Amino acid sequence: MSRMIRIFDTTLRDGEQAAGNSLNVEEKLEIAKQLAKLNVDVIEAGFAVVSPGDFAGVETIAKQVKGPAICSLARAVPGDIERAWEAVKAAERPYIHTFIATSDIHMKYKLKKEPDQVIDMAVQAVKMARNLCPEVEFSAEDATRSDWDFLCRIFAEVIKAGATVINVPDTVGYSIPEEFGRLIKYVKENTPGMEKVILSVHCHNDLGMAVANSLAAVMNGADQVECTINGLGERAGNAALEEIVMALRTRKEFFNYDTAIRTERIYRCSTLVSALTGSIVQKNKAIVGENAFAHEAGIHQDGVLKNRLTYEIMTPESIGVPTSRLVLGKHSGRHAFSGRLEEMGYHLSAEDLQKAYERFLEVADKKKEVTDQDLEALVRGELSLVDDYFSLDYFHVASGNKTIPTATVRLKTKDQVIQEAACGDGPVDAVYKAMERITGIQIKLKEYNIKAVTGGKDALGEVSVRVQANGHTFSGRGVSTDIIEASARAYLNAVNRIIRYRTPVEQHGKTAVPPATASPSTPTSSV
Ligand code: KIV
Ligand code: ZN
Repeated sequence: MSRMIRIFDTTLRDGEQAAGNSLNVEEKLEIAKQLAKLNVDVIEAGFAVVSPGDFAGVETIAKQVKGPAICSLARAVPGDIERAWEAVKAAERPYIHTFIATSDIHMKYKLKKEPDQVIDMAVQAVKMARNLCPEVEFSAEDATRSDWDFLCRIFAEVIKAGATVINVPDTVGYSIPEEFGRLIKYVKENTPGMEKVILSVHCHNDLGMAVANSLAAVMNGADQVECTINGLGERAGNAALEEIVMALRTRKEFFNYDTAIRTERIYRCSTLVSALTGSIVQKNKAIVGENAFAHEAGIHQDGVLKNRLTYEIMTPESIGVPTSRLVLGKHSGRHAFSGRLEEMGYHLSAEDLQKAYERFLEVADKKKEVTDQDLEALVRGELSLVDDYFSLDYFHVASGNKTIPTATVRLKTKDQVIQEAACGDGPVDAVYKAMERITGIQIKLKEYNIKAVTGGKDALGEVSVRVQANGHTFSGRGVSTDIIEASARAYLNAVNRIIRYRTPVEQHGKTAVPPATASPSTPTSSV
């Protein structure tokens, strides 16, 4: 029987905290529900003390998501721990994760504290958390640049204070697999009480070794791995969940460890996280990249046709990659449409289903074959889980090699229809400028990407943008057979996210504040 490794997912905390990945409460909830279906053991849902929005995210997930433990991060200070407990206490399995830095450089320059003071703070924090919550994790931030014996000392003290999980983070992605494996073994063998608790690791990818370090840790006794979908996270990211899980599953005869993850739900989680954060998965990304199962070379194709195992160590089905088979056309009724989405794992509200069906009809009218991949793109592009303040009513562009590109755009709000025209460097620029005039929101376009969802001249175009407004980054996505329309929808999707972000949490789902007059709130994070 294989030893089971716990999967602690921090997509909604370390992943969300990374530049440009901010999510609203509904988006966090949607991702958390998918993580529960994926069967992760712990969901780190956020850092409750950071802002009312972060608190609401953790609390909503704690109240609504069943199965995994629901965790909030907290610094080793009473205010953070109180707030974390308030946010997670309604969960089936509440979990508090408290941390303090233990490396000389962090203690001296960041904390300005002596090592004994750091131990004291850690112990007080764990005691307080354990008085409230049955599962308490303690992390020694920057553990891999800390003195190994000091680590063992602080771990022994927090275990005595009641910690149930001890985490060894490679905060700055500095470690090398063999070295990290040795550290885990050392900590395990030299910390009194370690046999009573779960030993966890949390690796960052600054040198591209987060997954290798995590696996080396598992081979040296770690019981839990902290990771994120698509490897999202601070700077170069965290260890990618899908890579760790599939390495353990595919090479089970080597590792003899396994996880409880339902691997056939990996692809769905990956696309959802990518769509909602706007963080595009690189084509050749292991496991979930577009090319991960594509065989281009003739020799490879020939081999795969004769026997898939010649060049495939795992199958696309094992992670749930959708097929490109033809499913629906414009004559397929609403029932067939919703049935197919259900089969694909999308359970939409009546309102979202209506919205998706209307868009499907528009697309099916222009595109003969609507495949599973098209449906995925439509759902992730159009159902942004954002209450749309603005929607696209009409646009017209004039463009050519001897014409100044000009656009007329009409947007609708609940009670207004507003039209503007503008010239631009190209048709997309003209549309964006006209929209800027309507919304009154000054936006800097930082990234623009377009891709065809499937092959063929009538392929759906999927546009994703990243924009900056008032120093914050937002993403947007749009889908259409017309690339200008897809571009307009992506921009509008980002605008609606900005408005959503500026709306006080208690108003979410009610009336949005008027965009031009709203002032942004600034979340802060100290990790
Ligand atoms: O990277 C890190 O050290 C962290 C801790 C809070 C665990 O994210
Ligand atoms: Zn981290």
